[in-house]
Amino acid sequence: MTTLFALLASIAVLHTANTTMVLETEPGQELKTIYYGTKLSESETAMLGSYKVQRTYPCYGVIGTEEAAFAAIQADGNRTVQLRIESAETSSWDGGNQLCVTCKDGFYPLTVKIFFKTFKDQDMIETWTETINEGKKPVTLTRFDSGHLPIRVDDVWISTLYGTWANEGRVNTEPLTRGWKVIRNIDGTRNSHTSHGEVMISLDGKPREDAGRVIGAALCWGGNYELRFQTNDSDYHHFFAGILPEHDNVVLAKGKSFATPHLALSFSNDGLSGVSRNFHRWGRKYMLRHGDQERRILLNSWEGVYFDINEDGMKQMMDDIASMGGELFVMDDGWFGDKYPRNNDHTSLGDWTTDTRKLPNGVPGLVKAATERGIKFGIWVEPEMTNTVSELYEAHPDWIIKAANRDIVKGRGGTQVVLDMSKKDVQDFAFSVIDNVMKENPDIAYIKWDANAPISMDFSNIAYWQGFYAMVERVREAYPDLTIQDCASGGGRANWGVLPWFDEFWVSDNTDALQRVYMQWGTSYFFPAIAMASHISATPNHTVFRTTSLKYRIDVAMSGRLGMEIQPKNMTEQEKDICRKAIADYKRIRPIVQFGDIYRLVSPYDNRGFASLMYVAENKDKAVAYWWKIANFYDEHFPRLRFAGLDAERSYRVTELNRLDISPLAYEGKTFTGRFLMESGLEIPATNNVEWSLKSDWSSRVLLLEAL
Ligand code: GLA
Repeated sequence: MTTLFALLASIAVLHTANTTMVLETEPGQELKTIYYGTKLSESETAMLGSYKVQRTYPCYGVIGTEEAAFAAIQADGNRTVQLRIESAETSSWDGGNQLCVTCKDGFYPLTVKIFFKTFKDQDMIETWTETINEGKKPVTLTRFDSGHLPIRVDDVWISTLYGTWANEGRVNTEPLTRGWKVIRNIDGTRNSHTSHGEVMISLDGKPREDAGRVIGAALCWGGNYELRFQTNDSDYHHFFAGILPEHDNVVLAKGKSFATPHLALSFSNDGLSGVSRNFHRWGRKYMLRHGDQERRILLNSWEGVYFDINEDGMKQMMDDIASMGGELFVMDDGWFGDKYPRNNDHTSLGDWTTDTRKLPNGVPGLVKAATERGIKFGIWVEPEMTNTVSELYEAHPDWIIKAANRDIVKGRGGTQVVLDMSKKDVQDFAFSVIDNVMKENPDIAYIKWDANAPISMDFSNIAYWQGFYAMVERVREAYPDLTIQDCASGGGRANWGVLPWFDEFWVSDNTDALQRVYMQWGTSYFFPAIAMASHISATPNHTVFRTTSLKYRIDVAMSGRLGMEIQPKNMTEQEKDICRKAIADYKRIRPIVQFGDIYRLVSPYDNRGFASLMYVAENKDKAVAYWWKIANFYDEHFPRLRFAGLDAERSYRVTELNRLDISPLAYEGKTFTGRFLMESGLEIPATNNVEWSLKSDWSSRVLLLEAL
């Protein structure tokens, strides 16, 4: 067979368990992408010889019609870059292989190394670049994407996540048409409110959860970014992802280098859920802190008492969560400030001394109280921020980020400002916030780390994040075992750029169960349930004022990392009993939810009146399925619920969890084959058949499947 490969010796073939990427690595030529998709055999790879190729890392200037992934200005003003391959080296690591293609500019002393790292078992390939200025004069990088992926035209659709504060992770699905689609974030500190740095690219028409070729891409970066699709006159859609360079060029002095964040790519033939399972497995194993450890069930004080912190109140909440079977109590905002007590959001960030008027025995008194109750203690901090009304600001007005010759832009509470994390003194200070709390209270098990203000555009976002990473790395070296939640005005930091130092994130300040069904659905595209903090809260909900049933709130919260965000003092004994039972049930299913594989069954975005998803243990011996009604009308007709991901040959016993119905479901305790459950399914009654006082317009089910 005469193939291109017979003529061209140099190709690099990267395999994962189920996928293959093929690149042309001919020395003296540009790096080209030939193929990315389902796994190929050697003989199939050889058949790619007739395939059209695309530049892997297109550079600015020489060819006029293509978007560039990379652009630089030389000291003499030349804005063009032309990279040629010098060498391509493959190495292996525990989980896969790594390819480094070293490219040099044909004229200027500039080297760009393009990396690909495979994660074999998770079907993940990370790509990134490193640029080195080998000349004497500075070079200015004006575009430095982490990667570019050519996507062959077909009926290609994309699913992106959008939203705002209290509405994070909403799914937007659209076909890719001619022209540009650009997703950017310029917040500075919280890059996942209005948009997300991840995208699903469905190659076979309108995305399906269980079938079709899908590529998922996630930019692993905490700061500003740009993802863009160019659909031009070629046979490809061109996908680019990287740090947003518009406000932030990188000037490389002699001998200096710059590495981009990694872009994680995963391909699956099993639809959106297939890609999500890959991201979750990779995330738990390689990215998330303690991704193999079960998370504690907690009560967080915020929606229960807001700033009204006092010792008796905290002890009462600890009593309540301990009595319901919880394992951790977290004291949220409001515990600190001396000259300026933190009674609202107008003052005190930065003044991390305990307000002993509220807590006469300090934090140690609370940690002791938690220990006496058999639970752990956690605390809220916001280390990157201050208020202009604070002792910290009075002492260090020069520590804040501010555009020169302009007024200070103040955020939350009319006084909140961001500390300049590029300064070493500020990094030391932010580290000391955690260090001081932990030195005084070595038994603290959990930190809720918040960030509630954006940064001015006239400030290097890259410098901010480099400072942040240096600082948070120090925190992790000092406190490797601590559970740390990343919160940023709710879900502002749901990204794989921050999570490697954190254990989980707060999905949203909006705890309304119905809206959470939509938000958690989208968030689960790229993030596993173990990382998604999901709390039972009060009704009317404090953000949308919707009144849902307690069972519904529980059944939604139990699909993530379960917690409570409520004043238990205001709950009835019957409600506490229901929560006690739910917490006990969650402990049964915790390993399935937190380590299992997700199968999203029916999307709330399809407006079919209900939504459903499930988690299946890796060995398929247990699964838990959720069914939530999302609208309530009389005369509704729902399909049987057909499960997924089970072992067709094994038999599973069905148990309803959180059951409040007067009589059990017809199949309670009965056994069905995996095949029957997946192909025929179970009837789900349209409403919960509960006693009159519990009747509501909200219905939901949680079903546990256990293989015999
Ligand atoms: C942010 C967080 C909330 C809470 C408050 C405290 O809004 O998202 O969960 O911690 O700050 O001020």
